[in-house]
Amino acid sequence: MTQSSGYAPSFRIIHWVIAVLVFAVWPLGMLLKYFKDDVKLSFYMLHESFGFLVLWFMLLRLGMRLSSNALPARADDWTGKLSLIVHVLLYIALVIMPVSGFLATNAHGFPLQWFGLVPIWSPVGRAPAIAPYFSILHTFTAWAILALVCLHITGALFHRIVRQDDTFQRML
Ligand code: HEM
Ligand code: HEM
Repeated sequence: MTQSSGYAPSFRIIHWVIAVLVFAVWPLGMLLKYFKDDVKLSFYMLHESFGFLVLWFMLLRLGMRLSSNALPARADDWTGKLSLIVHVLLYIALVIMPVSGFLATNAHGFPLQWFGLVPIWSPVGRAPAIAPYFSILHTFTAWAILALVCLHITGALFHRIVRQDDTFQRML
């Protein structure tokens, strides 16, 4: 990992695009069951279509991350180690999240039509026996992401307010 003053603009843009998507898709997911039947399917479609975008942005981001040799260095103390663990877990959870949702909706018998326009091929068809397992994984990962994001934001604020170093600024 090479030392540099901050993340390249492409990294900052993709960080904030994914953050905004997750901040919108997560609560929408929790609210789905409360919508009236006549609009429920439209909100499912919005949740799933924006959530599906997260998968492609995450795969792009992973590719950028693994191929870049100009990333800011991590702190050499416990904060560097903790942030590495949280970032790796976030990467894993943010791939499992859309994949589990996608497999769940297909297994429940509602294949994804992306924004109502593009039918998305799925390796899993209607399969009521396994559908609940994908749903459980989706819910479990949602709570894991909430915990990780809380830790992550606490860490960012810790650097900004307590340490007063440039960790926060290099993602702005
Ligand atoms: C990063 C992306 C995503 C996030 C953060 C997210 C988050 C959530 C949350 C918080 C819930 C509520 C869980 C509960 O009530 O216990 C939910 C439910 C649901 N989500 Fe997602 N979701 C994402 C992507 C997707 C995708 C891509 C699909 C399908 C293509 C999807 C399909 C569903 C379905 C069908 C439900 C209803 C409950 C179930 O059967 O699992 N989600 N989602
Ligand atoms: C107010 C909200 C947020 C703030 C202030 C924030 C801030 C930051 C900062 C300062 C970094 C750079 C840390 C470093 O260089 O060590 C970073 C990296 C990162 N953030 Fe956030 N973030 C926020 C929201 C999110 C959300 C919602 C997610 C995902 C759901 C996320 C995922 C990540 C990941 C995976 C990295 C690691 C980047 C890499 O090295 O590849 N962040 N964030």
